[in-house]
Amino acid sequence: MADQHLPDLIKAGKRTKKPAIKREFKLDPAFLSLGKGRRFFIKTHGCQANEADSEMIAGLLIMCGFTQVDILEDADFVIINTCAIRENAENKVYGEIGRLKDLKRSHKNVKLIMAGCMMQEESVVDRILKTFKHVDIVIGTHNIDKLPEMIASLDENHAQRIEVESGEGEVIEHIPVARSHRYKAWVNIIYGCDEFCTYCVVPYTRGKERSRQLDAIVDEVRNLAIEGYQEVTLLGQNVNAYGQDLGDAKVTFAELLRRLHELPIPRIRFTTSHPKDFSKELVDVLALGGNLMPYIHLPVQSGSNRILKAMNRKYTREQYLELVDYIYQKIPTVSLTTDIIVGFPQETENDFQETLSLVEEARFEGAYTFVYSPRPNTPAARLYDDVTQDEKKARLYRLNEVVNAGYKTGNVRFLDSIVDVLIEGKSKTDPNHFSGYTPNQKIVNLVAEESDLGRILPVKITKAMTWSLKGEIVR
Ligand code: SAH
Ligand code: SF4
Ligand code: F3S
Repeated sequence: MADQHLPDLIKAGKRTKKPAIKREFKLDPAFLSLGKGRRFFIKTHGCQANEADSEMIAGLLIMCGFTQVDILEDADFVIINTCAIRENAENKVYGEIGRLKDLKRSHKNVKLIMAGCMMQEESVVDRILKTFKHVDIVIGTHNIDKLPEMIASLDENHAQRIEVESGEGEVIEHIPVARSHRYKAWVNIIYGCDEFCTYCVVPYTRGKERSRQLDAIVDEVRNLAIEGYQEVTLLGQNVNAYGQDLGDAKVTFAELLRRLHELPIPRIRFTTSHPKDFSKELVDVLALGGNLMPYIHLPVQSGSNRILKAMNRKYTREQYLELVDYIYQKIPTVSLTTDIIVGFPQETENDFQETLSLVEEARFEGAYTFVYSPRPNTPAARLYDDVTQDEKKARLYRLNEVVNAGYKTGNVRFLDSIVDVLIEGKSKTDPNHFSGYTPNQKIVNLVAEESDLGRILPVKITKAMTWSLKGEIVR
């Protein structure tokens, strides 16, 4: 008989005022040799929250004696960390689960573990139960620390295990992390989301907003600096809500940045910001510069007040543009990027025109643009939708034309100037070709040496294209 603890989306959307439970991770010593001689492979879909979770899953398994491999066919355990944000993200995963069935035919002992946001959805787990019996373990986003226990029990009786919690979630400190990058690190500052944008599944898959203690974050960043990391990216679905649940009015995101500004870590970035909580105080702190990078990703979603209201975004077009103006005034060198959804139910041509004009007015230097995708159990999925799929696609195309012009303008403004670049990537085909990012998060391709990796060097920009820059290191 299979072990089951199934997701419950109604429960997942409930919020209480209770402070989040905080606890320390402790590995049961019985699991220390669980992975001896066994290899695992992780494939990660979705956002940085999932990337950070995958690094924790890897850290946990390595602590249990497993070895991480980067070729799927070499693994004894294949873990897919899934994303539920849009239907096409889910379809990709269903395709993968299907293909893994063939792998299990040829590699009989390989075990398949499904993790991440999709697993928090009832419809997904139903489908796994009915049609994907070759999945061995299903684990949700709230209990990844349970994985060793689940693998141990799978070893005992081979039955499919499903362990998904749909509560508000906890804050678990000190789960080991196997970082996938040598110079850049993710640092969670707030988990979950309480915004309930009407189109979005995240508040149901990730629990309520719960902040880590300020000192825990400062300690983690200080240690990363000591270990030689050059850049940290602070993570949260809405980093601007940081501290609001901690019951101490002095602990805010602006205050956290002020503290991190004093640490010897060369670069600090953060994602994602919700415009409604982006305070002027926060802009003023960012204007201090130094290790606070002049790059802000500020999702607007739509330029139409009618649609913003239907999306439950809690700001108007005018408020958004006022914030953008204040940012440009205080941080003139900043680069702004955004997220936009087209084809929200009942979006008119007029609403869409408002989005196009806002993109111009805000002078975005990049945007992730999406066609609206209805998500199970979200309020928007129940709205009457009279915009045809063809019309939605046409709007996406028209929007991308405007967005791409912004990418180009954002790159061209650095032509002939000298900017700092963190050299981090190496071409697979040419040993002399490297890449890195500027403070404004522009990618630069350049010629460098192996010993330049992980260093921040001055680079003269010699060519600006739509998607990238070319430069030469100034030696
Ligand atoms: N918490 C972050 C990230 C959310 S997901 C934020 O609020 O910005 C990233 C982006 O996916 C969102 O900003 C939104 O533009 C898009 N998105 C979310 N739900 C969607 C849906 N149902 N259909 C299409 N795009 C969606
Ligand atoms: Fe989704 Fe809105 Fe929360 Fe972002 S802020 S994760 S879009 S509900
Ligand atoms: Fe996807 Fe979950 Fe992130 S739904 S976008 S992986 S929070």
